[in-house]
Amino acid sequence: MPTETNTTPELNHIQAGALRPRPKTYRGAYFLLRIDDRPAGREFLRRLIPALASAADPDRPAWLATSLSFQGLKALGVPQESLDSFPPEFQQGMAGRAADIGDTGENAPDQWEQPLGSPDVHIVLAAIAPDAAQFEAIVARAHDTFSDLPGVSLIWRQDVATLPTERDPFGFKDGIGQPAIEGSGLPATNPHEAPLKAGEFILGYQDETGDVLPGPQPDVLGRNGTYMVFRKLHTRVAAFRQYMRERATSPADEERIAAKIVGRWPSGAPMALAPEQDDPELGAAPHRNNAFLYGDDARGLKCPLGSHVRRMHPRDSAIVGEVRLHRMLRRGTSYGPPLPQGVLEDDGADRGIMFAFLGAHIARQFEFVQAQWVNDGKFFGAPAEKDPLIGANDGSGQFTIPQQPIRRRMQGLPAFVVNRGGEYCFMPSLPALHWLANLDT
Ligand code: HEM
Repeated sequence: MPTETNTTPELNHIQAGALRPRPKTYRGAYFLLRIDDRPAGREFLRRLIPALASAADPDRPAWLATSLSFQGLKALGVPQESLDSFPPEFQQGMAGRAADIGDTGENAPDQWEQPLGSPDVHIVLAAIAPDAAQFEAIVARAHDTFSDLPGVSLIWRQDVATLPTERDPFGFKDGIGQPAIEGSGLPATNPHEAPLKAGEFILGYQDETGDVLPGPQPDVLGRNGTYMVFRKLHTRVAAFRQYMRERATSPADEERIAAKIVGRWPSGAPMALAPEQDDPELGAAPHRNNAFLYGDDARGLKCPLGSHVRRMHPRDSAIVGEVRLHRMLRRGTSYGPPLPQGVLEDDGADRGIMFAFLGAHIARQFEFVQAQWVNDGKFFGAPAEKDPLIGANDGSGQFTIPQQPIRRRMQGLPAFVVNRGGEYCFMPSLPALHWLANLDT
């Protein structure tokens, strides 16, 4: 039964990183830490807690967020009955779930960058700031929490930064389509989508099924926490450009095919509202660029059914499945240098997106979308098609652009995105971090 305690999120207990959008332009980094000594791990958390903001704090422009893998919870000495209360997919971790989510072939864990996917990844510390000076200050603060603790080691670092274009490595504006969440204080961007129940994103609250999911135990550990899934996604920008160049009839056609693949124009203007050409004013208007449904475009003549954004969030499209059970908060940030405009040859640089999912249900949100909506097209009636932008295509992928008088079929799609590794993490509430820091096992 809905009550205030199971419907209204306690923002002062939730880490800011669970809900707050990243700054528009940013400098940031992911730090992975390994705990070799239990007391040192707990001391690290004790020192870190005062540096963490809550979702209720007035906007701090720069912040740290911390999450733990299942191996990390073990390393801290979380009692077995608590460990057992976490969902099986979290216990197995991303590498353990590879076969279920399509991480095979060149995306398989044995190809991942080390130490991603290894049992050494215990803690993820994410730092994000609007500029370099604030970033350096917050990184120095993070370093102070562990640099003199020999039992806690920094094992990996990935820096991220806004590209000069403020777009993703393929040249598209990202981070637009996000769900509205009841009681979160986050602004809704699509008046046609009713805000989602808080329990879809924060543990301990009613979700879209009407139930409160049994969370990790004891209650202080699970309540107000969430899951954070990160993936280092390398982007093959030159291959993407070459694909358009080889198949397009003109530069305008190149831009149009790429926009059909994404479902938005480079400026962010949705094809659903601007089917013929880019509309930078629309792309830049936060109250308009996400305010749409697909009901008047059942055949995908404006926005193809198989485009990235329509697959990832079909809105009111007729699909097999219940869209509201598979929504996610995304916190993608770019890494690596941009490939200069017009360059069609790969320069060998590593560039891409540190993709981050936040939500209360790894299996029915992230994993379902990754397995069914990214790498299978059955749900919208195209079983042979994977996501043309991020799917595990192998050079024989196809993508259909519905148009009149006859559809256009893009053949021979290679993979434009490769997973270099990631992990399933639990982002505890602030009280849960206190509980973890003061364990006496
Ligand atoms: C390198 C990898 C990726 C790139 C370059 C990319 C790019 C984009 C772009 C340009 C948009 C449109 C702007 C926006 O609505 O924010 C978008 C939207 C979206 N993407 Fe991705 N994406 C990537 C990976 C992923 C992954 C792995 C997932 C999920 C498993 C995902 C899920 C979504 C969702 C849910 C939306 C919003 C759709 C909507 O609400 O209309 N993306 N992405």
